[in-house]
Amino acid sequence: MSIDFGNDIYEEPIVAKTFLTEDSSENSLRPHTLKEYIGQEKAKENLSIFIEAARRRTESLDHVLLHGPPGLGKTTLAGIIAQEMGVNIRITSGPAIEKPGDLAALLTNLNENDILFVDEIHRLNRAVEEILYPAMEDYAIDIIIGKGPSANSIRLDLPRFTLIGATTRAGSLSAPLRDRFGVTLRLELYTPRELARIVQRSAGILNAPIEEDGAMEIARRSRGTPRIANRMLRRVRDFAQVKADGVITKEVADAALLALEIDYLGLDPVDRRMLRAIIENYGGGPVGLDTLAATIGEESVTLEDVYEPYLMQLGFLTRTPRGRCVTRKAYEHLHMDYLGQEQLELS
Ligand code: ADE
Repeated sequence: MSIDFGNDIYEEPIVAKTFLTEDSSENSLRPHTLKEYIGQEKAKENLSIFIEAARRRTESLDHVLLHGPPGLGKTTLAGIIAQEMGVNIRITSGPAIEKPGDLAALLTNLNENDILFVDEIHRLNRAVEEILYPAMEDYAIDIIIGKGPSANSIRLDLPRFTLIGATTRAGSLSAPLRDRFGVTLRLELYTPRELARIVQRSAGILNAPIEEDGAMEIARRSRGTPRIANRMLRRVRDFAQVKADGVITKEVADAALLALEIDYLGLDPVDRRMLRAIIENYGGGPVGLDTLAATIGEESVTLEDVYEPYLMQLGFLTRTPRGRCVTRKAYEHLHMDYLGQEQLELS
């Protein structure tokens, strides 16, 4: 695959500005070393071996694909890998790399062993993705200079770099791209105990006094996700300061989360609307994802990536070939009468 530079002058591509500002409030809470990073034990154990081996050989780390639901720490982990390898990291995202030339400029500006982190890598366009194949495999890109009969192709060698790709949907990656990653790590939802430790750590950094029960209450309602736990912690801290004596107790956390319409399992209004719609409009399912999304006015991808993983982990929702179904457990949680399949057929 070649890049046609034509006569355009390529400026330094956007290195995901929105991405950096959006996450800036999270940055202060991010751990910087694997030791500080709580949870994801399997991924950490494997990574520490690969990092150590690459360091001993003074080589770049093999390309790494991180996948799993949003908010679990993929970017954080990429930053930690860079820190532990002692190299620089450039952060960008699939949609920010619009043209092959954007990617070429990014790649040619890397130093030996540097890391290029591409978030939402499943959203790279086809032309850009094809530049990545030789870049990942041979550390080279082919560039066409000029247009028409006088065009010339030159091969440009790249430094040996590590690509870290992150995606919420590994299934959307093309096979050729997926196959070029030497290491694939799946991040799992966190347990309440792990989240409670993360909340305690974050509260320490924010200088917010917190009781163990208070941390556990936030953890239990954070749907397995550190980003949500840290966001809730900030809101609960506001309540503790304004409505109580500043200490985050279980009672304060309870009251704050009730006011934010987060129930005791962490379900928010969208989760509840989604489950209710399946029950009230489609008899508990099955209903197709797009139909459901249209019914409640949300995007299908948001439901699939953000809402469903936790609802499925709770055992409230199942995905079947014919569509989504709500389980008896979900009816019970919503205090709605469960009509089993046999009863439905009789009625
Ligand atoms: N903050 C966000 N995610 C974290 C994690 N996995 N460990 C420690 N602090 C975190």
